[in-house]
Amino acid sequence: MHQKLLTLSYAFFLILTPVSGHSQSPPSAAIATAHPLATKVGEQILGAGGNAFDAAIAISSALAVVEPYSSGLGGGGFFLLQNKDGDNVMLDARETAPAKSSRDMYLDKEGKVNTSLSMEGPLSAGIPGLPAALVYMAKHFGRLPLSVTLAPSIKYAQDGFEVTERYRRWAQFRLKLLQRYPSTAQIFLHQNQVPPVGWVIKQHQLARTLEKIAKTEGHSFYQGDTAKQMVDAVRDAGGIWQLSDLKNYQLKVREPVTGNYNGIKVTTAAPPSSGGIVLMSMLNILSGYDLDKTEPAQKKHLVVEAMRRAYRDRAIYMGDPDFVQIPTSRLLSKEYTDRLRSSIESTIATPSNTLPGIKTKDSSHHTTHFSILDKSGNRVAATLTINYPFGSGLVAGDSGVLLNDEMDDFSAKPGEPNAYGLIGAEANAIAANKRPLSSMTPTFLETDDRVAILGTPGGSRIITMVLLAALDFKAGNKPDSWVSLSRYHHQYLPDIIFYEPDAISEDEAKTLGAMGHELKKLQSPYGDNQARYGNMQAIMWDKKENKVYAASDPRGEGSASVIK
Ligand code: DON
Repeated sequence: MHQKLLTLSYAFFLILTPVSGHSQSPPSAAIATAHPLATKVGEQILGAGGNAFDAAIAISSALAVVEPYSSGLGGGGFFLLQNKDGDNVMLDARETAPAKSSRDMYLDKEGKVNTSLSMEGPLSAGIPGLPAALVYMAKHFGRLPLSVTLAPSIKYAQDGFEVTERYRRWAQFRLKLLQRYPSTAQIFLHQNQVPPVGWVIKQHQLARTLEKIAKTEGHSFYQGDTAKQMVDAVRDAGGIWQLSDLKNYQLKVREPVTGNYNGIKVTTAAPPSSGGIVLMSMLNILSGYDLDKTEPAQKKHLVVEAMRRAYRDRAIYMGDPDFVQIPTSRLLSKEYTDRLRSSIESTIATPSNTLPGIKTKDSSHHTTHFSILDKSGNRVAATLTINYPFGSGLVAGDSGVLLNDEMDDFSAKPGEPNAYGLIGAEANAIAANKRPLSSMTPTFLETDDRVAILGTPGGSRIITMVLLAALDFKAGNKPDSWVSLSRYHHQYLPDIIFYEPDAISEDEAKTLGAMGHELKKLQSPYGDNQARYGNMQAIMWDKKENKVYAASDPRGEGSASVIK
């Protein structure tokens, strides 16, 4: 596996032409992550002579320990990497469907989707990709051995980390599921209930699993003891994993999606994330308007119409590129963009069901993002997930690995919404060894003067959050503005603009309503009292000012650090 991938990665780094202006190095390094302990680990690794890629390994594994509801060894994600010479790659560590998966595996006798199977327990778990990415990054991009980069997370797993309000919220959200499996409850609950703030969560088995990954360069996880522990636990719980699923897991090295928006070079996620294509498509449509000169309600109308059209294409065309052919160049072509733009009426909403597409019945979780810039100019934007908070809820026996529930990102039935209300078609139907379509959108933005590294969790809303941040970058604002912007979102279906309480004023809501838009002020995307969504982690290097900025979303508990 590694030999083949090695060749691939060198090929990419040789083929891709550098973007402009790489002679200069940043005056400071920067890190923004969703957890202060993970940011600290990143600082330690950079301080110990590691580069951005070493820091990414250390941060990913630390988040796997201290933010267990968001990402982990039992999940996957996308790492957008750029070296100091400006060459980009995306490491695709997305989960795969086990070989015994089948198209209709979540349908009951009446043909209805059983979401408890696709979102909870052993059948909801795809084959994890994160460990493969950590090993790969260490081998090909890092300077330090895994014994050094994984050491901080092993320590946090052994010594424990303290429960926060955020931990409590997500544990409460999935309490019943966490109570279902003793292997899970004994780690993540206290006396079978949500632990109090300050309670220390120790994960000794996970520490051992991490140690073995460092020692065997991942062999233990994909072919050794850990593989066996996980497969046994999944099978005992009624799942379909086989040892061969883990053995056959392949990390993929992909060429990022790139484009240009008003002079900003955009480098972003490739399929199996829909994020990059949808983001570029929205930006392409919007490049036909002078948004800075458009009054606010009108601007939101145009942005929403762009969102609607790009998410429609997501639903119809997108899936794992190794299984379906996505017409990327056509979707991002000038001709097609012009056609989409000309279908937008300046003062009337286009009902989604009048666009040719997918008919549906009507019907938001967890993930993490971090951004890194080192002093050589190497960059990492990584969005990692186990999908819903605490994933499948199943800790796979003695491995201590909490498994994902990424299988719910497939379209279990064409036209039926998943947990994020997203619908899909044949392109994202379940098949053995296939990767479910994602919305994760780690992104770099670059002009001659400014470089941005950003991304966020948030399910289907990830892509529109990155869009709003990109528009704010274009407007000349800095990371603290992008991460705290009030957000609004449209995803084609349901045909509704969802917005944070202060994102759309009463007057604007009236204007948009009169245009025919249906609006919904968010109460809570998670079934709790959360009316705000996302957890963006962003960095900007201003080359003219010779200054680096970093910001962590005020909605979360993360921390950003600029390191002199
Ligand atoms: O890959 C995806 O698009 C989803 N599994 C991401 C889930 C997510 O962001 C949940 N976070 N709040």
